[in-house]
Amino acid sequence: MGAQWGDEGKGKIVDLLAEHSDLVCRYNGGPNAGHTIVANGETYKVRHIPSGILRGKECVIGAGCVVDPEVLVEELDELAGRGIAIDRLHLSTNAHVIMPWHVAIDRAGERRLGKLKIGTTKRGIGPTYADKAFRLGIRVQDLFDPKILRQKLEVALAEKNVWLERVYGTAPLELEELAARYEELAQQLRPYITDTSLLVDRALREGKTVLLEGAHATLLDLDHGTYPFVTSSSTVAGGAAPGIGIGPTRIDEVVGVAKAYVTRVGEGPFPTEIEGRDQERLRELGGEFGTVTGRERRCGWLDLVALRYAVRLNGITSLALTKLDVLSAFTELPVCVRYRLRDGSETDEFPAYQSDFHHCEPVYETLPGWNEPLDEITELDDLPPAAGAYVDFVQKRLEVDVSLIGTGRERERVLALPRPAALSG
Ligand code: GDP
Ligand code: IMO
Ligand code: MG
Repeated sequence: MGAQWGDEGKGKIVDLLAEHSDLVCRYNGGPNAGHTIVANGETYKVRHIPSGILRGKECVIGAGCVVDPEVLVEELDELAGRGIAIDRLHLSTNAHVIMPWHVAIDRAGERRLGKLKIGTTKRGIGPTYADKAFRLGIRVQDLFDPKILRQKLEVALAEKNVWLERVYGTAPLELEELAARYEELAQQLRPYITDTSLLVDRALREGKTVLLEGAHATLLDLDHGTYPFVTSSSTVAGGAAPGIGIGPTRIDEVVGVAKAYVTRVGEGPFPTEIEGRDQERLRELGGEFGTVTGRERRCGWLDLVALRYAVRLNGITSLALTKLDVLSAFTELPVCVRYRLRDGSETDEFPAYQSDFHHCEPVYETLPGWNEPLDEITELDDLPPAAGAYVDFVQKRLEVDVSLIGTGRERERVLALPRPAALSG
């Protein structure tokens, strides 16, 4: 799972761990996620489908996800067109469906908020989860019963069209047109529909290895993130169990994925955001442009206060530290170890009050850079001492082992650390 604000490189790490897994399951979010895997000279970007699909593994989209059937069908067609087997995908009957009004309301809502906007991916995520909680949602299974579908569309449209026309000044939606379109999409999804909770439970009973792939990230969590600048699902590790439909006792390990620095897309507080030229340098070197929206990602130095919070919220048992190679260009590396609050006090715990977080100043310790590329390094022993010391600093301050280090975009560019890890001194 993501330990920062998203785009930590979960796709790459999941692809790696998937090699030794039998099932790979998404449990939250929808096409607001964008996970990149670079394998065999090809770049793949998945949005709904678990990153395990490239390894030919059994893949699950769980009940906690929201699904845009058009985007999913497109994604399946694209993967199939590139020779990837898609027949092992399983979609939960209980996942909620992102309908056109959700996308329209997400877009119009952001427009209406103006300067106060969240900076969503405009994929209809918030409105779909809101309707789910409001018990007005349409689930995957509803698409297969024409009578139920029409009834649900009728109830929803009676309200949504008022919002669309009167509040947002956009065009209303037509029931029969929608019913026909979603019945057609349902037929395309029919081969994948499964009781995914049962499927995962059976796999676990048979002793198989199940990998649960988080989307988004800790600080975007609806309950514990930087609300309201968050997504609308539970992104923390504890959310994986209900998102799949298994008990929390079935989870053995939690791998947090964190960049060796930090990025954030969209609005919201970001204490270690870099001012000046280094921000652009980091963005260019790290290729920090949104996978889903193409937006520039805001870039900052590593924030250990926020990362310690992620360790706490998720019960992280080890960290994958990605994109260490991107820091090779910097001679000095500030790492935030504490926040200075408005009253002058300092804390190494994440502030419980949003306004404290909004106005805090990062307190940095500066570590030396290593000034040499890492992308050719295949052995841990060949890591420049300063790079090893940087990783060690992270694990010592967080009291969590770093188990994987990302040294480049490609699947192979990763170093695995033995446990317990000791890189310097
Ligand atoms: P996700 O949403 O967490 O899966 O991450 P994204 O795919 O949205 O963004 C991560 C980006 O970083 C992608 O372009 C990856 O190819 C790239 N990436 C992942 N790990 C590494 C790494 O260790 N080094 C470098 N240079 N790039 C990486
Ligand atoms: P992955 O899985 C980065 C951010 C959006 C916005 C906020 C709410 O690729 O790491 P939403 O559309 O979810 O209502 O937007 O959350 N956001 C992400 N940022 N990576 C993601 O996913 C994100 N998913 C949502 O930019 O600030
Ligand atoms: Mg992403």
